[in-house]
Amino acid sequence: MIKLLELKANVDELKLNMADTTISALSHEIDELVQAGGKKFRPGLMFLVGKVFGLPSASLEIYARAAELTHLASLIHDDVIDESDKRRNHATLNALRDNTTAILAGDYVLATIMGELAGAGNNELLIDLTQCIKDLADGEWLQYDLKAKTHVRVEDLELICIKKTGSLIRFCCTTPAKLAGHKDITTMATLGERIGLVFQMADDIVDGFNQSGRPAFQDLINGQLNYVTLKLIEIYPDLYRPIYAVKNGESKIFPWTEAQYLEATRAVHEGINREKDRLVAIFRALCEARGEADLVEVFEMTLSKIQANYAPQLGL
Ligand code: IPE
Ligand code: IPE
Ligand code: MG
Ligand code: MG
Repeated sequence: MIKLLELKANVDELKLNMADTTISALSHEIDELVQAGGKKFRPGLMFLVGKVFGLPSASLEIYARAAELTHLASLIHDDVIDESDKRRNHATLNALRDNTTAILAGDYVLATIMGELAGAGNNELLIDLTQCIKDLADGEWLQYDLKAKTHVRVEDLELICIKKTGSLIRFCCTTPAKLAGHKDITTMATLGERIGLVFQMADDIVDGFNQSGRPAFQDLINGQLNYVTLKLIEIYPDLYRPIYAVKNGESKIFPWTEAQYLEATRAVHEGINREKDRLVAIFRALCEARGEADLVEVFEMTLSKIQANYAPQLGL
């Protein structure tokens, strides 16, 4: 598994620090958030796709850094929106300091990486990144609007997930293809967006467990249905009213039994598995066309990481 080791080294060696140019403690606080960890899924995927297209990892470093730091900024802002006090088992910036600090820190990170990409001189990729940042904001905005809706459909969730989670993962898949000179990046864009979708489905499963220092069911407490609670309603229509009552802040009682919640969680997990199979098939075709079939296994491992956060809870 030389390719896997290579990939791990690419990710581990990626520089994610801020230049210490601020007079305030801002850049130092951001560096501490980076030190707190994270799976670094996005740079890992970008380096992997880079290998499919035969790119040296050095040519991707600035874009992989941009992807991970855009992700970090989106989390800093997301924790303000969701009023979360824990991230990666650490206090969030909004909890540690306040919302003002967190908003400024997120803005600072985004401006830093946009400046770096502008310096790299590839205008098309800079525009792609700004599109991701727009999609991230749009997705969070749509999700916020959904709080007031009296009926949430799975199509609403899908659009939100593709925007708030899929857009950046799409950037990770299309960037290496573009750098390798490919004009038609439709397959790569779809691959990235669909990975984003399963990524968010897995995150919704994790929301049902007490993890990373966060209590369970934060999405519903925050007025948001997710893939698991929507699935619960689909399997048990009688839960429609009591679940919406919690969503609307009219009740604090979770109306499902543990067995029902587990059943819905397993159903979402099965959905992830089916989508994973389709994604692997797309990736395999891509690799085989380039004589890189040994990368398929690495891709499968990368996708498995998405499920690692909830696998123990489902006894997998
Ligand atoms: C969490 O992302 C937020 C979502 C987009 C669902 P990650 O699961 O990639 O978070 P880290 O970077 O590993 O902490
Ligand atoms: C994902 O949404 C955040 C972004 C993609 C910006 P969530 O709110 O579900 O993510 P977590 O659960 O806080 O990590
Ligand atoms: Mg959140
Ligand atoms: Mg979540």
